[in-house]
Amino acid sequence: MKHLFDATELHGLKLKNRLWRSATWEALAAPSGHFDERIFGIYDALAAGGVGAIVSGFTSVSDEDVYFGQARLSNDSLIAEHKRLTKGVHAHGTPFVAQVALNEGPRNPGDALPLFAAAARRAALAGYDGVQIHAAHGFYLSRVVASSGNPAAFFCRLADAMREAAPALHLTMKMDCDDLPMQISLEVFTEVAAHLDSIEVSGNGTSVPGIRTGRDEGYFAPFAAALAERTKTPVVLVGGHRSVECMKRLLNTTNISFLSLSRPLIREPDLPNRWLGGDTTPAKCVSCNSCYRTPAHGCIFNLHTRG
Ligand SMILES: Cc1cc2nc3c(=O)[nH]c(=O)nc-3n(C[C@H](O)[C@H](O)[C@H](O)COP(=O)(O)O)c2cc1C
Repeated sequence: MKHLFDATELHGLKLKNRLWRSATWEALAAPSGHFDERIFGIYDALAAGGVGAIVSGFTSVSDEDVYFGQARLSNDSLIAEHKRLTKGVHAHGTPFVAQVALNEGPRNPGDALPLFAAAARRAALAGYDGVQIHAAHGFYLSRVVASSGNPAAFFCRLADAMREAAPALHLTMKMDCDDLPMQISLEVFTEVAAHLDSIEVSGNGTSVPGIRTGRDEGYFAPFAAALAERTKTPVVLVGGHRSVECMKRLLNTTNISFLSLSRPLIREPDLPNRWLGGDTTPAKCVSCNSCYRTPAHGCIFNLHTRG
């Protein structure tokens, strides 16, 4: 029997429960990659709120890559600020994983490998406990999945290059289960997972609006459950988790190991501690997706706490 609040240990990470904060772009970095002060308060509140592990918002590996407000680990001058961020999160005993990404990347995907490896090295120097390859949601690497003849081989090489650059870090990847036909996708995920310490299942319908408790929760669960049958690598499932009841059911009727949340923690960064404390009413998030358009991607119901 798995419990939401089981403590677990993975390569590089000590988690106090099975809940992850899934990567969430705050749009709080200057084009140079330097952070706005508000970012530190956001991560402090998340870490204080009791989540088992935090994945950062997507962080570009290239100085040339442009996306509004994105963080960067693309040159050594940014390491000191990331160090301050990781120190704040670690003060709460929470492991911290940097999500590394490209929006636009080189024409030849092989040329992206050194960029990701260098970012992994910087992530280690900045004190992160892990790195997550962002290969989902239409970003550069998910376009490689969809267009490459042999995406598994490419991602295994990428994972190996990052492992070599930062062997102590937890190595994980977020990938879409619906960029390829189901069977091919399962094969690719399974092959790549063998090179990783965990794998997060997402999909192109990323942030489904209007989730109803007990009806639409865990919308990528069928794929994640099938993957978890095939791989020994722990599977993290994102997308539409809102109630303890549904998460408990997912943990105990499948081999899925972890559940990750984004929007619910924007509204309630202390949601894990609220649940742990016995108030198990579902997340207050109404999945309106207004957080994609608010300053610092805060929740419209509590904008006074951000930006
Ligand atoms: C404002 C916002 C920013 C996001 N930024 C990222 C990101 O940087 N990287 C990523 O992989 N997913 C990102 N996502 C997607 C979430 O991590 C998650 O996959 C999705 O919202 C579904 O989970 P949820 O129902 O718990 O919100 C973002 C979602 C939101 C709402």
